[in-house]
Amino acid sequence: MSHFLRRTTLTMAFTIAICSPFASYAQNRPSDAEVRAFADKLLNRMTLEEKIEQMEQAAGQYVTPERANELAKKGVGSFLFFTDPVRINELQKIAVTQSRLHIPLLFGYDVIHGFRTIFPVPLAMASSWDPGAVAKAQSMAALEARAAGIQWAFTPMVDIARDPRWGRIMEGAGEDPYLGEQMAAAQVHGLQGDYIGSPDHILACVKHFAGYGAAIGGRDYDSSDISDELLHNVYLRPYHSAVKAGVATVMSAYMDLNGVPASANPWLLQDVLRKDWGFKGFVVSDWETSKSLQTHGFAASLQDAAIRSVNAGVNMEMTSNLYRDYLPAATQAGTVTSATLDDLVRPILEMKYRLGLFTNPYIDVARAQQITLSTQEREASRQTAEKTAVLLRNQANILPLRKDIRSLAIIGPLADSQVDTLGSWSIHAERQDTITIAQGLREKLPNTKITVTKGVEIERPAPASIFDAQVPPTKAVMTTDEERKTEFDHALEAARTAEATVLVLGELQNMSGERASRATLTLPGRQEELLEAVTALGKPVVLVLMTGRPLDITWAASHVPAILNVWYPGTEGGHAVANLLTGDANPSGHLPLTWPREVGQIPLFYNTNLTQIPDDTAHRYWDTSSLPLYPFGFGLSYAGFEISDLALASAKVKSNSVIQASVKIKNTSAVTGEEVVQLYTHQRAGSASRPVRELKGFQKLALAPGETRTIQFSIPADELAFWSPLLRKTVLEPGAFDLWVGNDSSAKLHTSFEVISH
Ligand code: NOJ
Repeated sequence: MSHFLRRTTLTMAFTIAICSPFASYAQNRPSDAEVRAFADKLLNRMTLEEKIEQMEQAAGQYVTPERANELAKKGVGSFLFFTDPVRINELQKIAVTQSRLHIPLLFGYDVIHGFRTIFPVPLAMASSWDPGAVAKAQSMAALEARAAGIQWAFTPMVDIARDPRWGRIMEGAGEDPYLGEQMAAAQVHGLQGDYIGSPDHILACVKHFAGYGAAIGGRDYDSSDISDELLHNVYLRPYHSAVKAGVATVMSAYMDLNGVPASANPWLLQDVLRKDWGFKGFVVSDWETSKSLQTHGFAASLQDAAIRSVNAGVNMEMTSNLYRDYLPAATQAGTVTSATLDDLVRPILEMKYRLGLFTNPYIDVARAQQITLSTQEREASRQTAEKTAVLLRNQANILPLRKDIRSLAIIGPLADSQVDTLGSWSIHAERQDTITIAQGLREKLPNTKITVTKGVEIERPAPASIFDAQVPPTKAVMTTDEERKTEFDHALEAARTAEATVLVLGELQNMSGERASRATLTLPGRQEELLEAVTALGKPVVLVLMTGRPLDITWAASHVPAILNVWYPGTEGGHAVANLLTGDANPSGHLPLTWPREVGQIPLFYNTNLTQIPDDTAHRYWDTSSLPLYPFGFGLSYAGFEISDLALASAKVKSNSVIQASVKIKNTSAVTGEEVVQLYTHQRAGSASRPVRELKGFQKLALAPGETRTIQFSIPADELAFWSPLLRKTVLEPGAFDLWVGNDSSAKLHTSFEVISH
C-alpha cells in the first residue's frame, strides 16, 4: 500500500469513529448491480417530466421559499446554496413525503476549503505536498458539511494554471500535472471516503472540465486555446486522476475549449470522459452554462442550447432551467431520445441511492451543531495551515522570533482582518470565528508589548459575484492625505520603537477567485511603499504574505530579511502563523507553481521545452531575466537539509518495470523539520520534444536534528509515457533519460538511465 493510501485510510478510520447516524447503511454498502437495479426500477416508474426535473438544479438564493417548496414537491433533482440544516430537513421532507415518487433531494454547495470551519485555500493545500494531510482536511470539511445536510461539494478544482493573473489559480493545485494528480486524488478520497456513501462523507465534483485554467490573458471566463499535446500531457491529467480515484461527479466549464464550448462538447464529455476513462457518475454544468451556449454564438436558440447540452452528456444543469422548458418538446420531437434521457438520469438516482438518501434522508440538527466549528475541526484547520505556509527567505535566521521578545510591531492592512484571513470561498463562514495573525501573535506572546496598526489601507472592491464573501466595498476610512500620512507615520514609529516588525501584506480575499483576475501582480495600494519604508529602518522585519497568487515581491526578495507566504490560511490562520513565526511549528510548504519576478514574464512554468541555445534560457528578454524569482517546488525550513548519494538500482529499466532510485537526506540543523524531496526526469529524444524537467515523484518526511535517512523512490516506467503529437497516442519510448533529485525543480543531483523494451 502506498504511503499516501495508508495515510488516507487512517484518516477515514478517524472520521468514521465519530458517532454516525449512517452507521447501519455503511455496513450494507450496496453492490453496483443492486444500485443499477434500484435506479432502473425507479426510472421505469418516472414520467418524462419527472425525469427532466431530476436533471435540474435550482439555486437557493434565487428562488422564493414558496417556489423552493414547490420544486421539492415537483421532484427537482438538486438545490445548491441551502445551508441551514432545519430548512434542508424541511425541504427534504417535502420531497420525500409529498413528491409522487418520494425521491430525495441532493443538496450541493461550494465546500471548497471548508464549510463553516475554513481551511487554507486549495493552492495553499497543494503547497503542503502532503496528500494525506489534504485528504484529512477535505474529510473534515466533508464531516462538517454532511452533518449540516450538504451531500455534495463542488470540489476539487483541478484546473492547471500557468498564469497567476487568473484569479482562480488560488482554487487549484498550481501548474504541475503530477502534483495536480496527487492533489486531485487526495481530495476525492478525503471528500468521498473509501467509497461513495461512506458515512460522514459527501460526493466530490471535479471541475471545471476542461481547460478553464488556460483562459487567454488570465481573464476569467475567456476562451482557452490548448494544443492536443498540452491537453493530454498537462491539462487533462488531474481530471483523469480524479476519475480513477472514483469521483462521483464532474462539472463542465464555462468557456470554449479550442472553439467548442466545454459544456456542450461531445469529445470532452463523451469520448474522453466516458468512453476513454469509463466515468460512471454524472456531469453538472457550471452556473447557467447551458444558457451561455447562445452567448458563445454556438446554439441558435435556448431550445438548441438545451438539446446540444443534453446530447453532449450534461446530466444536470445548474440553474439555467432550459431542460425543464425545452426538453419535453425535444424528446417528443425525437431530437433527444428517451434512451439518452434515461442514461443521463440514471446516475443521478444512483448517486442518491449510494449516499443512502432513500433510507436516511434527514439530518440530526443537534449533531450538526456539535460538529460545526468543533475543537476537532479547528484543530485540523490549524494543522493544515501550518503545513501549507512557504518560507521564501530567512536571512541570518531572523525567524523564528524569540518568545521573550520585548516588543513587536504588527503592521499591515491584513494583519487583523478576519475576512481576509479566511480567503475566498468562505461564504458560509462567520468572520468573527476567525483568528487573525495579530490575535494569534497576541495570544502566543502574552508578555510582549505588541502594537497593531494598518499603516496603509486597501480599498475593498465590491464583491465580484454572489460567491464572494459579501463584504461591503470599503471606502478607505482615511479620506484625507493628512489622515493617511498620520497613519503611515504611526506605523513607522511603531516599527522604529519595536524590537522587530511583522508586516502582513498582500491581497484582500476577494482579489482572487472567480471574476477576480488582475493585470498586475504588485502589492495593491501603497503596501510596497510601506514595506520599503519599514525595511529602511534597518531593524528585523518579517514579511508575511497573504495572497491567492504569486505577487511581485522582487524588491522584498533581496531586501526584506524574512518572507513567509501563508496564502489564505483559514479560520485558525492566526494560531498557525503565530506557531510558525515563533518556531512552535516549522515551515514545510513548497511552491506548487513557479513564482515570477514580474507580470511580463507570464506565462512562466518550469516544465517547458528547450528549443535553441540552451545556455541562454536566462536571457530571453533584454529588459529582465527570464528566470523566476523562486522555482517551482521551492520552500525553506528552519532546519537545513543535505541531499546526497543519488543511486539507481539499475541504469537500464525495462518499459514494463520500475525505476528504483535511492537518495540520502540529512537534517544538518539543530531543529526537527520536514523536507519535500522531489524527483524529476527528462526524456532526451523521441517522437516529440519533451519538457526540460517533469516531476515524477516526491516524498515529504520529518527528520530529527542530525538525522540521516535513505529514501527510496519507485517510479513505474509507464510514468514516463506521454501523448505524442506525431503518433497521436500515448507512448513510452525507449531511450535515454535524465533524472534529478532535490528540494525544488532546480535540483542539481543528477544521474541518467535508459528505458529498454521488455
Ligand atoms: C460558478 C463557479 O465557476 C463554480 O466553481 C461553482 O462551483 C459554481 N458557480 C457554484 O457556485
